[in-house]
Amino acid sequence: MHITLKNVKEIPAGESVVLLHKKEALLRTSLLTRKEKSYIAALPKDKSSDIQAFNRFGSHLFVLLYEEKPQGYQTVEQCRLLGSKVVKHIKELDIRSVTIASTDPDVSLSEAVAEGVILAGYQFNRFFQPSTVEKRALSFSVIGILHRKATKERLDVLSALMEYTMFARDLVNLPANYLNAEGLSMLLQERALPLNIKVTVFNRKKIEALKMGGILSVNRGSVDAPTFTILEYKPEGHRNEKPLVLVGKGVTFDTGGMNIKTGSYMTGMKSDMSGAAAAASALFAIAAAKIPQYVIVLIPATDNRVQGNALVPGDVITMHDGTHVEVLNTDAEGRLIMADALSYAKNHDPQLVLDIATLTGSAMRAIGDLGVVGMHHDAGKFMEQLKESGEQVYERVVELPLWEEYKEMIQSEIADIANIGGANAGAITAGKFLQHFTDYPFIHLDIAGAALRDKAKGYLPTGATGVGVRLVFDFIRRLAEKK
Ligand code: BES
Ligand code: ZN
Ligand code: ZN
Repeated sequence: MHITLKNVKEIPAGESVVLLHKKEALLRTSLLTRKEKSYIAALPKDKSSDIQAFNRFGSHLFVLLYEEKPQGYQTVEQCRLLGSKVVKHIKELDIRSVTIASTDPDVSLSEAVAEGVILAGYQFNRFFQPSTVEKRALSFSVIGILHRKATKERLDVLSALMEYTMFARDLVNLPANYLNAEGLSMLLQERALPLNIKVTVFNRKKIEALKMGGILSVNRGSVDAPTFTILEYKPEGHRNEKPLVLVGKGVTFDTGGMNIKTGSYMTGMKSDMSGAAAAASALFAIAAAKIPQYVIVLIPATDNRVQGNALVPGDVITMHDGTHVEVLNTDAEGRLIMADALSYAKNHDPQLVLDIATLTGSAMRAIGDLGVVGMHHDAGKFMEQLKESGEQVYERVVELPLWEEYKEMIQSEIADIANIGGANAGAITAGKFLQHFTDYPFIHLDIAGAALRDKAKGYLPTGATGVGVRLVFDFIRRLAEKK
């Protein structure tokens, strides 16, 4: 589903309208009739902060009432959620287009409503029969924004961000039998080329030549070849001399390997490439929005499976940078493939490397699905900015420490480092493992909790959420504005 977002100067005749209004000031608006106002004013208190639908003989009016929250970003999130509530009505009434009108001076509130509508309207319909799709799909395709600060430039940026957030969701929702490492690389390549992004895909031979032992070892149990994809966006007039490097975990399916996942733990592991999807999609949105930043994305990809020659616990492997790793658990595979990419990133002399990965169940247990776990080394300023972005886009970042002492937990008796720590602080020891392969300002994001949902909520659907795309996009856009 593609939705066109455009700025409009007036409400087209017969058009359905979403009126966003501050609750307290509602009686002053000229956009409602007297009857409509008194109807809303008479509502019981608990109902009145929400959404009201009116039928105006064929066209529809949805009044969204928001309240000023203590923090600006909370008000914005409230507007996204209000927007997501419109979708149910749009579907029931088979509405094709709406205009979002608001008299609040802040246009970002109207944009947030549009965001909520678009993100909540997402569907993954690929595997339904056409007759079912016809019933499920929304015929909705146009959103107009009526606001004097709604410029075409702003809305084009938002459109790009929405398009690629949904692309990330599509990638994650694709099951493992439709998406292996080579398939992932091909899909990324296809999308990157029209966006002025240079693509390089390393095949198995090249990965062997580069001695990327982490990727190759995880791949030993697979019948499909691994890939290493490099996306490079270096627009004319970019503001940063050294590139920002994003690394995304591309495990197309995680069975756990020989330490096979039991019970229901394997369910949903097609989403173990959510980091890859987020990093690549954020770059696509950046390129589509023509943000003047030099950004490189690295995607190590393979599935983690069980086959004849699969990695076994106790194996010692040699990584791209020469480090010997004792693999004590084959289910801690993400850090093995990510480590090779992090060593490889040194070649680019990065300003900052930010990795994003569904890395640990530990991160999920710590904060659930409400945010993203973040750690950093030597990147405190960037981390603060990232947290700000996290609030703005409501993909909030919770920081955990990478204290020196945690390193002791991943010491090995027979090699340079072990790939797991003890029972405690699992998200941190994973981050600490990654840090071993870095020598630059470094941020690690663990999105294990928020990447996949088994129940829809607000503008987040069942299945893939696309978490990380809006976060990384906003972070990089702000960096471009700063200098
Ligand atoms: N892909 C998983 C992490 C994960 C868990 C993502 C739940 C999404 C939801 C990762 O590869 C993994 O299996 N990690 C292990 C590490 C352990 C063996 C040290 C974990 O967290 O259990
Ligand atoms: Zn695993
Ligand atoms: Zn994994």
